[in-house]
Amino acid sequence: MAAAVGATKRRLGADGVSRGMTDEDLGSFADFGGSGDDASAGATDETGVDATGRDADADESDGTGAETDDAFERVAYDGANGDGLGVLAVSEGLRIGEREDETRLRAYVTSANRSNVRIGRYLVAPYPDGESLFCRIVGLEYGQRFHGDDANEIHARRAMDGSAIDEDDYTFIADLEPVSVLYRDAGELKRRMADRVPKPETVVREADDDEEIKTALKIPESGVFLGHLAVGGETVRTGATPPTIDYRVTDDYATGDPLAFRHTLVAGGTGSGKTHTAKNVLRQYLGEERTYPVEAGSDREVRAAVVQFDPQDEYAQMHDDNPEAGTEDERRWEREGIAHGGHDDTVAFVPKVGNATYTAAHHDAEQIPFTVPFSMVRSRPWLAASAGLNDNQYPALQTLLNRFFDRRGASGTYEGFCSFLDDPALKEELDESGKIHEATYEAVFRRVRGMPNGVFDQDARPITDLVREFVKPGRLSVVPTYHVSDSRATETVVLALASLLVDEKLSSDPRFPRIAETPLLVGMDEAHNFLADADTVQARQVVGKFTDAAKQGRKERLGLFLITQDPQDVAESVFKQVNTKVVLNLGDEDAIKSVNIPPALAEKVPYMETGQMVVYSPDNSEPVELLGLPTCLTRHGRG
Ligand SMILES: Nc1ncnc2c1ncn2[C@@H]1O[C@H](COP(=O)(O)OP(=O)(O)OP(=O)(O)O)[C@@H](O)[C@H]1O
Ligand SMILES: [Mg+2]
Repeated sequence: MAAAVGATKRRLGADGVSRGMTDEDLGSFADFGGSGDDASAGATDETGVDATGRDADADESDGTGAETDDAFERVAYDGANGDGLGVLAVSEGLRIGEREDETRLRAYVTSANRSNVRIGRYLVAPYPDGESLFCRIVGLEYGQRFHGDDANEIHARRAMDGSAIDEDDYTFIADLEPVSVLYRDAGELKRRMADRVPKPETVVREADDDEEIKTALKIPESGVFLGHLAVGGETVRTGATPPTIDYRVTDDYATGDPLAFRHTLVAGGTGSGKTHTAKNVLRQYLGEERTYPVEAGSDREVRAAVVQFDPQDEYAQMHDDNPEAGTEDERRWEREGIAHGGHDDTVAFVPKVGNATYTAAHHDAEQIPFTVPFSMVRSRPWLAASAGLNDNQYPALQTLLNRFFDRRGASGTYEGFCSFLDDPALKEELDESGKIHEATYEAVFRRVRGMPNGVFDQDARPITDLVREFVKPGRLSVVPTYHVSDSRATETVVLALASLLVDEKLSSDPRFPRIAETPLLVGMDEAHNFLADADTVQARQVVGKFTDAAKQGRKERLGLFLITQDPQDVAESVFKQVNTKVVLNLGDEDAIKSVNIPPALAEKVPYMETGQMVVYSPDNSEPVELLGLPTCLTRHGRG
């Protein structure tokens, strides 16, 4: 403290010309610098209720145990100093316009509050009649209070000596963006568009009321938990218990449709927390009470089935409790109504491909081996052409497959098809009849023979015989493919299963009523590997199919849950159908651009730390930033 006073005195000597400073000034400077408590005391006195409410809460959380608080410590902030941050200023205009660029809303921030203000935080400016304007800080600016030139030697040297500035020499203005007007209607808090201007000199305060914040940001009261509302990586705190604000995604028909069936994207760079986040969200959909009507308008409700494609072999772990979760975590999850713990009905459907072996030391889920029967190719010719066929070759492949299956029926195998094609007489016949040119025939044959080894008809039950186990209400079926080293084989297996699910959902005459009847979430980690927009017949078929499926999702109760580090590589037509975008840290500019979220969110994305995310779900809420749960709700990781 003495050093600061000394510094101030030196500064006075240098600057004494423009302002006579007295010991009184010095005294108040010392008070301000020395004790933040004093500075805020005056403000809190006026609002004893709020201040005590907040204190009481702080005490309570202190009592819950030191190690729990640690988790929140990093993210905690105590709100503004006292109740008011400052007042609305009119000197440069105070105006609410119909268009954003016609709005001018600026608050003068008092000196004691300045170091605590951050861009993105939520403020409330009350109107005299009880309504209030809820806004967000979008800019912060120091200005000169006294006109003078501070680009001079004396100022610079003084600053370089390390002395603090006198806040009173400057103005400090927060630019605000209105979010909504809050008002009460028959006791219920409601929001509407910002349609009125607050009075000059209105005292603005930091938003710290759970109901107020949720209403203003249109965050649903109930639904699927995604994380806690945050600004700049810190959770927003209120006077309530718990002090955090849970962000949920609508999951019932009362307010539209469950948003799960309008699809979800989790995008983020390597290690940003995609899988951790995805597990936490999927775990919510597997919660015991979460049910959906078997068909639109039906009274009979069933739980959803979740099928998760899993290239890194991580999701079968959802069968197990997280060994790193303590009783304190569990108590907190209970209190917030978050489904947690290992999901018993988790089954790993393990593709048998060639000699690849699957080991499962990292989870205790049941395993069911399966194979992809070649008969699935009959209605999905592109599966037999993973190397890509051109527009000439594809119809030829279709013709050949039809001929083959007409003769062999559902028992036709891949080997059988290869020897069927290895027939000069057939080639000649088709060439002479003008159906398939010889060169085309040969190209198709090469492609079919070029399929990776051991994809079809292996020594395991065909997935088509396992449908009732694969898709089951309340069950998480995981399809791990890490043990399959060939990426084309992986792609074929994943697309065969995914398209089986999607086709049955879309079919007016489904072969497997179980799939058609069951509300279904299809999760796909590393989705860019399967739903890329490439210029091949296969890619076009797959993308077309998934686009249709996504469009029909609402009706058929089919939700896509896509997870990717390369969102720019996911076909745009599928992407466009995704309503809820959860974006974790992304460094790549193209990737950020491709997720197409509002600029205020996009700008945060490269700076976010693990577990920090922004959510853009326009039919659910205003765009927001969240902090995911620091502890995974199920097992995650191999440590
Ligand atoms: N909200 C969070 N808070 C704290 N740690 C987190 C959070 N989310 C994830 N983590 C941790 O960060 C690490 C990386 O997370 P995760 O495995 O989900 O990353 P990823 O994005 O899926 O990475 P990859 O690109 O390798 O698939 C894990 O140890 C995970 O538990
Ligand atoms: Mg991952």
